[in-house]
Amino acid sequence: MSAVRLAGKNIVLGITGGIAAYKTPELVRQLTGEGATVTVVMTRAAHRFVTATTLQAVTGRPIHDDLWDEGATAAMGHIELARWAHCVLIAPATAHCMARLAHGMADDLLTTICLATTAPVALAPAMNQQMWQHTTTRRNVAQLSADGIAVWGPGDGAQACGEFGPGRMLEPDALRDRVVGLFGTGVLTGRRVVLTAGPTREAIDPVRYISNHSSGKQGFAMAAAARDAGASVTLITGPVNLPTPAGVQRVDVSSAQQMHAAVQAHVAGCDIFIGVAAVADYRPVHAEVNKIKKEGDAGLSLQLEQNPDIIAAVARLAVAPFVVGFAAETLANVARARGKLIRKGLDMIVLNDVSDSRIGFNSDDNAVTVVTRNGEEHLGVAAKAEISRALMLLITAAFQAKRTTGGAVDQNVG
Ligand code: PMT
Repeated sequence: MSAVRLAGKNIVLGITGGIAAYKTPELVRQLTGEGATVTVVMTRAAHRFVTATTLQAVTGRPIHDDLWDEGATAAMGHIELARWAHCVLIAPATAHCMARLAHGMADDLLTTICLATTAPVALAPAMNQQMWQHTTTRRNVAQLSADGIAVWGPGDGAQACGEFGPGRMLEPDALRDRVVGLFGTGVLTGRRVVLTAGPTREAIDPVRYISNHSSGKQGFAMAAAARDAGASVTLITGPVNLPTPAGVQRVDVSSAQQMHAAVQAHVAGCDIFIGVAAVADYRPVHAEVNKIKKEGDAGLSLQLEQNPDIIAAVARLAVAPFVVGFAAETLANVARARGKLIRKGLDMIVLNDVSDSRIGFNSDDNAVTVVTRNGEEHLGVAAKAEISRALMLLITAAFQAKRTTGGAVDQNVG
């Protein structure tokens, strides 16, 4: 791993009062190990979980914890810290801290910096799983995401309180990678990425069609993440109601056959292909030219035929890109997803459970399992933008590994 991915970057690390604060000295080590300069801002409650002395030792810089400390303010007050930061990361972020930020409160040094900064702000939530799933917290997370604040994690698993579920702070190395990703790593500079997104519509007649619930949110977020990684991006999308991410070339299509043709037209010379679209597997054999009339009490039978498998056709190309599929399943079944990966000849497949309305189709959040032939890695519930950034890091790493091993499929996940 490069040791300078955060060279020249100033990070304000906000620490609030959660048990996961004991991991922050290691988080500082991970960030400074990448060349970042870290200044710690602690809330009053944070002092109960980790000492300022330890954090001062690992950052080599004074700790800030008081909006009203004149001595510290003279050296570097909240406005100076807000200007100095290239990124503000709050880890752990308690439910209370998130609630205050969601409401724009600025009653201590950390929340004041968050309002005063123009740098990206990211939160690594850590709390009891019931607190994380409480309607109020969900509402605050949605508000924070809408305000452009990144929410990283939390992960699932055993909790300090003895319960099990979502609410664990992401591990320091995962947070370090998210910070790296935030700065637009440029890891895909000079690379071309082609994606599909949204649903397809299969005409029955001029007014009716077969389709599905895909909103395009996940595919558009993936396109933005690929662009942020430095790639030149072509996004081939079915009918959705979303603005085009800046800097992304958009191609609009309606049916699976049109999407297939557009992909074939744009895929040559692309390095990575990502199929996020929910492509209709079948289409009516005959699309009627005129609107089908209701005839008495008789039913209506539609004869369907298979659509082309767009992604499998890309994987079969003589010079194929690195190919990533998405698998929408109503039971998050890794073995089934891996079967799909093998059948379609993919390098990686991203499994999401579309039976849960909080994630998957048309939701702002998702939770996915990244599956390769030899491993899998779970990414817990997060905004689709966050999931996409994390996915782009995994995809890029696997793409680069495949190139250096001369074509062997990635074995790094899991
Ligand atoms: O758009 P959102 O509302 O944000 O929802 C996102 C999503 C749930 C649609 C997305 O995350 C997702 O799971 N997309 C894949 C949906 C899907 O069609 O899954 P599948 O298991 O049927 O297909 C597997 C892969 O084959 C996919 O990459 C799909 O694009 C591709 N495929 C499928 C059929 C076909 N004829 N051609 C294809 O290329």
